[in-house]
Amino acid sequence: MDASMQRELRDVFGTFVTGVTVVTTRDAQGTPHGVTANSFSSVSLDPPLVLWSQSLKANSFPAFRDSEHFVVNILAEQQVDVSQRFARAGTDKFDGVAVSSNEHGMPRIEGSTAFIECRKVATYPGGDHAVFLGQVERFHRTHSRPLAFGNGKYMVTHVHDLGPVSDDPAAATLEQLGALRLIHHALPDIAARLQGIVGLGVWANAGPTVVRWEPGPDPLTKELVSGVVVSPIESATGLAFCAHLPQRKYGRIVEAAIGKLPPRELTLAAFEARLAVIRQQGVARSVTQAAVDIAGLSAPIFNREGRMIAALTLADRAEALRGEDDCPRTRALREEAAALSRRIGAPAPAA
Ligand SMILES: Cc1cc2nc3c(=O)[nH]c(=O)nc-3n(C[C@H](O)[C@H](O)[C@H](O)COP(=O)(O)O)c2cc1C
Repeated sequence: MDASMQRELRDVFGTFVTGVTVVTTRDAQGTPHGVTANSFSSVSLDPPLVLWSQSLKANSFPAFRDSEHFVVNILAEQQVDVSQRFARAGTDKFDGVAVSSNEHGMPRIEGSTAFIECRKVATYPGGDHAVFLGQVERFHRTHSRPLAFGNGKYMVTHVHDLGPVSDDPAAATLEQLGALRLIHHALPDIAARLQGIVGLGVWANAGPTVVRWEPGPDPLTKELVSGVVVSPIESATGLAFCAHLPQRKYGRIVEAAIGKLPPRELTLAAFEARLAVIRQQGVARSVTQAAVDIAGLSAPIFNREGRMIAALTLADRAEALRGEDDCPRTRALREEAAALSRRIGAPAPAA
């Protein structure tokens, strides 16, 4: 296989998301060795067996090959630095790392989510790697969250939000929280696809509130503050909500906002007419004067009952979002919001 195909295959292997372990041992001279490894896998419960594979080129390979024992330390979410440290070839990996020793003198790294202490029962050839099979002699777990690794990046784990959905009305709030969590986790990928800063807006007790801006590479992000109530009549998020919530939800808040404008600048009737256009276009737009002019585009996300529960907002410099109503980014935003609605279980829109 040529070098470019190998790189491609490595990327394909990388799509399989794993936990991260540091496998440790001690050689005959008493020197500890440890390597970051995500090739760990459980094999059997009866007898209890695990495996991992190591590159034949690793400096520590002779130590693992010759040792009778090893420990698999399953790293916790906050141990990225430990993973990095044990992924570098070197002799000082254990400096400053809190370890304890098991009865065979094998190092256990403190703070790990779990330890699996093993006796090596077989070594198999595996191309440029050796596969070590270990019988589990002792194990210990904590309840800290594990670190994950996929596509060449460290990751954190969250429970999947698309479990069975309850019909119990009392579970509705929980279901809403689950839906918001799902949207929350989807934001980084959406920001990457839309090539901009995306925000998650909810309708909270004081009206439209952007609970999170997913930053983009543009320093414009600094202008956008998370956790603030935004204008129901001027922000894209606020307009999107008003266009899709029942009037009794937004009426009082909108009247108060209109009341603060110069007299006759906006009437309730003119505002309602604007909402009708937003409903028809599927997105709301705004331009906010800040240090730079920021434009917002906001699309509704609906839940299973067809009620708007969140706004997906794209923010960018005003000149970057100018253009006709149906520009590709507007369409892309609308499609992202519709895809999230479908994931939450919203009924398909009437054709
Ligand atoms: C997330 C991650 C997973 C890794 N998994 C393995 C693995 O399963 N097997 C392996 O041989 N190397 C793996 N490596 C690379 C080794 O950690 C690295 O080559 C090793 O620490 C070199 O140490 P040494 O030469 O001092 O023995 C991984 C690196 C990272 C960052």
